[in-house]
Formats: sequence, structure tokens, C-alpha cells
Amino acid sequence: MAYRVPFVDPREHYRRLKSEVDLAVTETLAKGDLVLREQLASFERHLAAFVGTAYAVGVNSGYHALHFSLLAAGIGPGDEVITVAHTFVASVSAIVHAGATPVLIDVGPDHNMDVTLIERAITSRTRAIMPVHLNGRVCDMQRVMALAQSHGLAVIEDAAQALGARFDGRMAGGFGAAGCFSFYPLKALGGLGDGGAVTTNDPEIARKVTLLRFNGEDRETGEFHLHGYTALLDNVNAAVLDVKLRHLPMWIDHRRHIAALYRRTLEGVGDLRLPNFLDARHFDSFQNYVIRTARRDALRSVLRAEGVETLLHWPKPMWEHKGLCLTDPGLPETSRLCDEVLSLPMSAETTLEHVEFTTAAIRRFFGAA
Ligand SMILES: Cc1ncc(COP(=O)(O)O)c(C=O)c1O
Repeated sequence: MAYRVPFVDPREHYRRLKSEVDLAVTETLAKGDLVLREQLASFERHLAAFVGTAYAVGVNSGYHALHFSLLAAGIGPGDEVITVAHTFVASVSAIVHAGATPVLIDVGPDHNMDVTLIERAITSRTRAIMPVHLNGRVCDMQRVMALAQSHGLAVIEDAAQALGARFDGRMAGGFGAAGCFSFYPLKALGGLGDGGAVTTNDPEIARKVTLLRFNGEDRETGEFHLHGYTALLDNVNAAVLDVKLRHLPMWIDHRRHIAALYRRTLEGVGDLRLPNFLDARHFDSFQNYVIRTARRDALRSVLRAEGVETLLHWPKPMWEHKGLCLTDPGLPETSRLCDEVLSLPMSAETTLEHVEFTTAAIRRFFGAA
């Protein structure tokens, strides 16, 4: 179905960047630079500078960024990692594949980890905390880092949705032992396909992730230091990401502008709860604009009929997916969010007209026109 207001518009995204992206792709291909070449190194340098870390290592997905960061931090069988269930499944799968046990805690009113619940989840087996900076909002990293330091825990940030978001003036992905990013095409910085990166200030973590992504081989010496994986960020993808990274600050400004418009037109309408959480410490990048309403399903049907595409992140608590073999942790706020969340159109290509059309339809639905 062709929506009048698409959730995102990859064709329009490409149309706007065509000359720059085409040049990056054709130059890279013409040089035959397909694997581990200068384009990847250049993107890694620019990404590290953007996040404010000493290193960035490109990998082939956000999932692998998380998995390798956990392995590089020494997390393994018998260990517990505290994280949330209100996230994309990859956050939790990375912990499971590292051989550790995910300990799932509830989220607070901003949809992020409720930091007041961390302390009581810590046991003698806890080795790490994985805060997830959901929807482009950084968790309260002051509390997370203070708790981690006092209990001797590693912090692996799932910043897959938060490149460019800040807390206390510092970038997501620059607080913990490692920051993990996704360049899945629909992310604020989206590549040609799957892609990801780990940012870190720890040379040993950077070295281990670099080994893990390329079958354990040290490319300088040819020595295999461990059993690794085939999980590189492709060179052509890196060349395109390097081009797009220059646009990211402008795209984030646009997202913040769209979020402010949504707020202006939807505040006080029906039972809506909006994600404009005003707190001077946070600079949100609005990867998603997620509203809450008890009438979510009816509203979604009406919007679809009017030509507005919305998504659900996520409609069913993770532990209810039987195949994931997670025990029900009993997280009331997470369950409520699953029933109430609705993600509205949000991207660098979302126009003011898109917002006007969408918000007018929502206001009519609630009888507020
Ligand atoms: C919060 C979160 N964590 C991890 C991931 C995994 O990233 P990828 O899809 O690149 O593997 C995603 C991607 O959607 C995500 O949103």
C-alpha cells in the first residue's frame, strides 16, 4: 500500500543524496576497495571523533556490536547482565549468545531503563549493565555509571537508536566500556544494508572487537588470536556512511523540529502521552516519536485508513515470545507500553505537511478537531 504519509521514505532519502552517494559507491568500486580499506578506516575515524571516543570499530550489524562488546569485556557463561525487555530483541540475544543470563528490569516513564531498579537486580553473578538508549534518548548515565563503578560492573551501551543523542553534554556511546551502534537502513544514520560499530576508549576492547569481526586474525601479522566471526562492516557501506555522517547533525535538528511540531499540535489531545520529556540534561535525537494511548489499536486503524503509516515498537512483551525461552520477569510498565505505544512517521524526509496531515487525523480521532 502506498501511504500518503510513509513512516520513512528510503527512495526520497536516496533522491536527495544521489550525487554524493553515487560518487562514494562508484569511486570505491572503481578502486576495487571492497574489504578493510581506507574508506572503512576513514568512517571509523570520523565516527570516533563524532562520539568522542578514542576508537570506533565497524562491524556488520548492531547485534554484532553488542555481542562482540560483551565478549571483549569478558562476559560469558555464569555471568548476569542487567538490561531491559522494552528493546529490540537483539539486545537480549547478544547477552544469550555470549553465554550469559539476561536479567530484565522495568522501564520508567521515558521508556528507558528505570535506574532506581538496578541496585536490587545486582547479585554476586552480575558482571555488566546494558542500558538501552531507546528512541534516541540517552538513559540517566550519571546513575548508571555511578552504580556500575561502585559495584565493579562493565557498562555496555546499546546506542543502536541513539547516535548523536546526548546526556549532560556527552554523546551516547561514549560513557561505558563500549557503545554499540546500528546502521540498519531505517536508523538516523542508515547504510546500504546491515551495519554497526563499537565505540570505546579502551584499546583492549577495540583490539578484541577488531579480531572478533575478522575470524580472530591480526591483519598485520597473520596470527589468529582467537576463534572469531566473519562480521566486517563492508567497505562500500562504510564509504556511504562516511558521506551521510556529515549530514547527521542537520538530520537530527530536523527530527527535533518535527518532534516539537508533534508536541505543539498534540499536547492535551485525548489521553495522549507524548515523548517530549523535558529535562535540560537530555538532548534527544528522536530516532522514533512514540506516543501512548489506551486507544492505540483503534487510532492505528484510522490512521492507516487515512494513509498514515505507523509502526509498533513493540506490541508484545519479549518474554511472551515462547521461542526466546525467557522467564516472565513481571514488568508492569513494560507490559503497559506494549499495549499503548504507537510510533508516528519520523525521519529526515518527514515534512511539515506530513506532520500537519497526521496530527489533524489524530485530533479528529479524539474529537479535538
Ligand atoms: C535498541 C536496538 N538494539 C539493537 C539493535 C540491533 O541492530 P541491528 O539491526 O543492526 O543488528 C537494534 C536495531 O534495530 C535496536 O533498535
